[in-house]
Amino acid sequence: MTTPPADNSQAQAASAPHVGKVALVTGASRGIGRAIASALAAGGAKVACVATSADNAAQTAAACAELTDGARAYGVDVAATSDVAELVAQVREELGGLDILVNNAGITRDQLLLRMGEEDFDRVLAVNLKGTWNFCKAACRPLMKARGRIVNITSVVGLTGNAGQANYAASKAGVVGLTKSLAKEFAGRALCVNAVAPGFIETDMTAAIDEQAAAELKASIPLKRMGTPEEIAATVDFLVGPAGAYITGQVLVVDGGLSLG
Ligand SMILES: NC(=O)c1ccc[n+]([C@@H]2O[C@H](COP(=O)([O-])OP(=O)(O)OC[C@H]3O[C@@H](n4cnc5c(N)ncnc54)[C@H](OP(=O)(O)O)[C@@H]3O)[C@@H](O)[C@H]2O)c1
Repeated sequence: MTTPPADNSQAQAASAPHVGKVALVTGASRGIGRAIASALAAGGAKVACVATSADNAAQTAAACAELTDGARAYGVDVAATSDVAELVAQVREELGGLDILVNNAGITRDQLLLRMGEEDFDRVLAVNLKGTWNFCKAACRPLMKARGRIVNITSVVGLTGNAGQANYAASKAGVVGLTKSLAKEFAGRALCVNAVAPGFIETDMTAAIDEQAAAELKASIPLKRMGTPEEIAATVDFLVGPAGAYITGQVLVVDGGLSLG
């Protein structure tokens, strides 16, 4: 009697959940975006790695290309609406579609309101909120067709507020409202839209915090440490994979308990 060949299809699907998908990740040159691009590539997705310039995103794209059969670097200012539309069309043409959009690019320009200039408010809103809207707008038709996924990176600060970050917190609260509204608009087309709200994560963005402030910060986090980019990437990976198919309009907080207060 011969033993039938083992059915490895379930194991393969679990280890490579994004095979056949094309993902676009903004802010992919560094930090959280780089970790997200790598996680999606490790799951088999072709990945468009977007930063302010293709040169900046090139290292991430090269690392992704080691993991999957398609990865490219692209450059755009996410705040520039027509450039974003052109970029999305280019990615679809070059990578063969679009199934997963991760809006991760973001900036801070921290200052107490008394000292905050109008330009600091406008630019943070333009990159963090308008940039997210730009990509959702440009990509929603192909994403609906693909019954795809959108994940927007917000911040716990968008939920709790933070002194010195009125511009940043407003932009991230806006991303929450945008996410929930789009989840309602696209649910009928099985396009799930969610947000991930990191707490304090070890990246260039938080590297400027001085040693004493960082120590105080860690002490205030119930898990007593900052998070890693990979921990945020794992959450995004879950939301855009098969396990996230029945989750939409949610904000998943990944902050070591910081926002528990
Ligand atoms: N780190 C944290 O503790 C933390 C906490 C909560 C939320 N977040 C959010 O997580 C996201 C990633 O943060 P991070 O800490 O990884 O940041 P980061 O290390 O400072 O990297 C920022 C990324 O955004 C890109 N970017 C900035 N402005 C852009 C623009 N106008 N157009 C296109 N790309 C632009 C940068 O590209 P270039 O390299 O080309 O400049 C870079 O890839 C952000 O949305 C941030 O607000 C971070």
